[in-house]
Amino acid sequence: MNILITGSNGQLGLEIKDLSSDYSEYNFFFENFKNLDITDIEKVKSYILNKKIQAVINCAAYTAVDKAEIEKEKAEKVNYIGVSNLIKAIGLVDGKLIHISTDYVFNGESVLPYKEEDNVNPINVYGKTKLKGETEILKSSVEAIIIRTSWLYSIYGNNFVKAMLRLGKEKKELNVVYDQIGVPTYAKDLAKVCLDIVVRNEKIDKNSKIYHYSNEGVTSWYDFAKAIMKLSKIDCNIYPIETKQYPTPAKRPNFSLLNISKIKEDFNIKIPYWRDSLKDCIDSIKNE
Ligand SMILES: NC(=O)c1ccc[n+]([C@@H]2O[C@H](COP(=O)([O-])OP(=O)(O)OC[C@H]3O[C@@H](n4cnc5c(N)ncnc54)[C@H](OP(=O)(O)O)[C@@H]3O)[C@@H](O)[C@H]2O)c1
Repeated sequence: MNILITGSNGQLGLEIKDLSSDYSEYNFFFENFKNLDITDIEKVKSYILNKKIQAVINCAAYTAVDKAEIEKEKAEKVNYIGVSNLIKAIGLVDGKLIHISTDYVFNGESVLPYKEEDNVNPINVYGKTKLKGETEILKSSVEAIIIRTSWLYSIYGNNFVKAMLRLGKEKKELNVVYDQIGVPTYAKDLAKVCLDIVVRNEKIDKNSKIYHYSNEGVTSWYDFAKAIMKLSKIDCNIYPIETKQYPTPAKRPNFSLLNISKIKEDFNIKIPYWRDSLKDCIDSIKNE
């Protein structure tokens, strides 16, 4: 099987690249933004046809949540038009798509972990553009799976873990919000799930296109920061603050916990607890 990974220089794309050697019977094509811009329909179509691509894992996205508030068109171009282009191109070869979406499609007003069928109502531009991408997929007849994930981090790219490691070394104390609840997801864990799902032989059931995936457990950004400092033995005091004390251009949902039962049951997978995966990531960063 020929598998294309778009946005291959992002956190998830690079984690998939690292793991791909464990799947040596498949041919992987890793393409970054520069080599394959998913907003260019002609390039996407000809790439998929010429390379005889049979499956795509779409890791390309506009992910700058705050910047999206003033760059709506740019965000929409990648997260909506780009996804629409991929569907059109995959449709030509009857291939399949694994697409990554976000907990930010929800408004955060729930008190229970969000299930796949719960009402969506994004409260920021990024979430709205990601939802438009999802809707394009759901409207199409392409064999596709949408995996919504949350609070992604990795040894690669810019993310909360790497920001805390850097700031923790620079400062004696940090204020972190404690009233946004969710769960972090190690991109390496998600990468393995994407690969395990894409190589499965069974046809994707057209009625169950959305899955939720995060690590196990629940936390706040404050507790996450505390755990990062503890595991990396950085002597920096973390203080809890409320979201209103740390205003950002984009609103974030206060509660974005995802119910991950469906993906565990349907694909028979075990998901690591968030602290165990965090330790794994911090150990890898230390060994770099
Ligand atoms: N990060 C999170 O906390 C989080 C949370 C929930 C869901 N997600 C979702 O998870 C997925 C993976 O996220 P990530 O954190 O790995 O993102 P990332 O690190 O920002 O990677 C996204 C990649 O897409 C590339 N890209 C942007 N526009 C493109 C285009 N038009 N064509 C091709 N490539 C393009 C970017 O290239 P440049 O770097 O050159 O711009 C970047 O390498 C995304 O769908 C995201 O929405 C992320």
